[in-house]
Amino acid sequence: MGTLKRTKISDILSQPVIGEQVNIKGWVRTFRSNRFIAINDGSTINNLQAVVDFENFDEALLRRINTGACVSVIGKLVESQGKGQQVEVVVDELDVIGDADAEKYPLQPKKHSLEFLREKAHLRVRTSTFGAIYRIRHAMIFAVHKFFTEKGFYNVHTPIITGSDAEGAGEMFRVTTLDPTNPPKTEEGEVNYKEDFFGKETNLTVSGQLEVETAALALGEVYTFGPTFRAENSNTSRHLAEFWMIEPEMAFYNINDNMDLAEEFVKYLAKYALENCKEDLDFLNKRGIDEDKQKPQNERNELSLLERLEFVANNEFVRITYTEAIDILKNSKPNKKKKFQYLIEDWGADLQSEHERFLVEKHFKKPVILYNYPKNIKAFYMRANDDDKTVAAMDVLFPGIGEIIGGSQREERYDVLKARVDEMGIPEEDLWWYLELRKYGSAPHSGFGLGFERWMQFVTGMTNIRDVIPFPRTPDNAEF
Ligand code: 4AD
Ligand code: MG
Repeated sequence: MGTLKRTKISDILSQPVIGEQVNIKGWVRTFRSNRFIAINDGSTINNLQAVVDFENFDEALLRRINTGACVSVIGKLVESQGKGQQVEVVVDELDVIGDADAEKYPLQPKKHSLEFLREKAHLRVRTSTFGAIYRIRHAMIFAVHKFFTEKGFYNVHTPIITGSDAEGAGEMFRVTTLDPTNPPKTEEGEVNYKEDFFGKETNLTVSGQLEVETAALALGEVYTFGPTFRAENSNTSRHLAEFWMIEPEMAFYNINDNMDLAEEFVKYLAKYALENCKEDLDFLNKRGIDEDKQKPQNERNELSLLERLEFVANNEFVRITYTEAIDILKNSKPNKKKKFQYLIEDWGADLQSEHERFLVEKHFKKPVILYNYPKNIKAFYMRANDDDKTVAAMDVLFPGIGEIIGGSQREERYDVLKARVDEMGIPEEDLWWYLELRKYGSAPHSGFGLGFERWMQFVTGMTNIRDVIPFPRTPDNAEF
């Protein structure tokens, strides 16, 4: 094998130099007619076609050019004779770097179901669909940091192991080094966590918010982007036990400033994807249109993936209060005809995803921001409104997904927060430092959390959240 340096297929296709000698390395997608090898190296969704003159190569070598094998080819870049590609490589040297047994390789050159591919999560990234999703995921991570950096926010790492339950929902994974079969006990016969690694009970975090608030009250505008964990036993297409969340937190922002930032942020991400992920999005757009054709008319998307992204980038979101939303829902057709699984009867009801989706998909046909929720269905840290019934909370609701962002203005008044913590029976020893922030130089501040995988569902059109994270963690599933 020669010593020519490897070139990525994306570089070759973006600026092809006809007549140039190139070396490409990648994985075989197909090998047709003992002559045309479609090679993909992950740098782009597009394959490069390598043309072999089989008379010049050993039959034994050609037999190893199977789907899934890793190969290196050196050859001349020429204009393609065939359809489907502009350039191709006429192969001089051919090498198999890693064999793939044609009989056993799970990914055959045909369409596999997403369910099947979830069981092959170590290989599914080699399909066009998952290659596109991984690349878009990277672009979105980069766009998140770009957006906040351009606005002067600082990225802060918040802890993954914590002693507090930020959302107060109690759906946490315990972190312990105690022997589960024989833990140390207190005199009362309960597990003695004083003897545990941290000398107290600890869990994987459900949110970095409480800790990132400390930084907002010093650096002004900050954000955390990290893994979060929730042991909620909801086996839905929108819930993961391990997911990533982007949580900006801003001093001197009220709830309206918070909503403005949330809207600007997701519009920026949508535009960034449209401008920077064109080929991958075109592929997923076509995939979505094909999928829709298989569905009954009433389940089809009214807009294609690209149209949905354009729509979000270019249209103002609707903003209404929870109270207004309840009025709309109460008088809605599915409520009157008892089509909702959870009927809306009284003010104070928690909204389910069916209600959120009705508002977005049927009523307004736009993303909707709901704000000023009843305090009883929201977390302890949200700022009390003057009506004594609602808090300055806000949720951003998206088509096909429901809640994509949850946030609020925070309670910055020590006495009010302390009373709320006591009322909800939250142990003060868990939150002393959070309360103390309100004693020393407190200031109005706000923030929100964008579920990164929910966003990835929107931007790829994938209907199951298990398909937008490389290795999903869900109830009964931690393979890989
Ligand atoms: O609404 P949530 O629970 O809000 C918080 O955690 C706040 N501390 C955020 C903040 O104000 N800094 O979660 C925020 C978002 C949701 O809107 C949803 O997009 C996502 O996180 N999310 C999940 N995504 C996947 N799987 C789950 N189990 C999720 N739970 C929440
Ligand atoms: Mg929420």
